Amino acid sequence: MMGWCEVGMMKVLVLSLVAGAVAAVRPSKLLPAAVPAVYVFGDSTLDVGNNNYLPGKDVPRADKPYYGIDLPGSGKPTGRFSNGYNTADFVAQALGFKKSPLAYLELKARKMLIPSAVTRGVSYASAGAGILDSTNAGNNIPLSQQVRLFESTKAEMEAAVGQRAVRKLLSASFFLVSAGSNDFFAFATAMAEQNRTATQADVTAFYGSLLSNYSATITELYKLGARKVGIVNVGPVGCVPRVRVLNATGACADGLNQLAGGFDGALRSAVAALAADQLPGLAYSVADSFGFTQASLADPLGLGFASADSACCGSGRLGAQGDCTPAATLCADRDRYVFWDSVHPSQRAAMLGAQAYYDGPAQYTSPVSFKQLARMRIG
Ligand SMILES: *[C@@H]1O[C@H](CO)[C@@H](O)[C@H](O)[C@H]1NC(C)=O
Ligand SMILES: *[C@@H]1O[C@H](CO)[C@@H](O)[C@H](O)[C@H]1NC(C)=O
Ligand SMILES: *[C@@H]1O[C@H](CO)[C@@H](O)[C@H](O)[C@H]1NC(C)=O
Repeated sequence: MMGWCEVGMMKVLVLSLVAGAVAAVRPSKLLPAAVPAVYVFGDSTLDVGNNNYLPGKDVPRADKPYYGIDLPGSGKPTGRFSNGYNTADFVAQALGFKKSPLAYLELKARKMLIPSAVTRGVSYASAGAGILDSTNAGNNIPLSQQVRLFESTKAEMEAAVGQRAVRKLLSASFFLVSAGSNDFFAFATAMAEQNRTATQADVTAFYGSLLSNYSATITELYKLGARKVGIVNVGPVGCVPRVRVLNATGACADGLNQLAGGFDGALRSAVAALAADQLPGLAYSVADSFGFTQASLADPLGLGFASADSACCGSGRLGAQGDCTPAATLCADRDRYVFWDSVHPSQRAAMLGAQAYYDGPAQYTSPVSFKQLARMRIG
């Protein structure tokens, strides 16, 4: 923004510093990247446009305003479920890249898959995907399919640059995975539709299938050459505006949060056991989205947020009774909202989370931070 400001008789051109606020979010790119490439798997917290290429009217797509309104330069929707960058972008930036690697389906369409795959990485993340193939089936690229797409990418990479180079590249690269929230939403919805609360047996069976399929995903990535895997656990899904609005007082659904928290504990143990017993040479970090988000929701003002319960872009109570569309209401200060829409974090909340996982207090990553993981030397 530019404007003229009167100073005595002189008119002085004043350059507004509004742009500086977003620039400050981005680390300077003085250092070479910590890893050669980043490969991304998971759901809408990481999707950078894959779903824009999927057919079907029920596919979740962030392809309309006001999505992307704060993206530098364009301010246009890109498929990110955010007002600006998302968690994948901020993790990639911390690792020394400009933003997340591009979406697999976009790279395919532009015939840029292999050049990107061998120099920066690829994002297979798809909004709506869960750990289970059955979650929102038919309207996303399920996690298991994302891994198969990576397998076929790898074969093409090998044809282009050779097996040896690909093995070296992949073993030094960062594999970012975030999934599970959609499985919990689907589980809660299924219980509600059956008019019942989950029994201990339901929960045991649900955790069992999540853990077995997540372990299978990580094992598959390892077999394909991944040695540095950063996993973001499931956040307090009972606190998103879309769930809060179901409660008359706008309270979080404590039962759903406990369900997610219980899974996160089991996930941490399962990944540790996998690395110790079955996948020699696997280095990993589990990022505590649950703990970090709970801490933010407990002290929003301390982190500069004015709202921790409502969607910035939406409509009705808590901004959660309507989607974020061009007809929605937009909050005045997007950086002061934890939630951008009724499910997803704002750009600023995503940035703070990624910072915590990369180089934040030790309590938010286990057993090492994303930064330590990136810098490890792999056999
Ligand atoms: C779990 O993983 C197996 C093996 O990859 C897959 O065949 C199955 O469909 C998955 N189950 C669900 C419910 O996603
Ligand atoms: C659940 O309850 C609603 C309203 O009470 C009813 O219409 C519906 O048929 C019930 N569903 C099942 C699966 O029992
Ligand atoms: C709403 O939340 C409050 C506080 O957690 C809880 O006591 C109450 O049972 C909830 N109401 C419903 C309908 O779930």
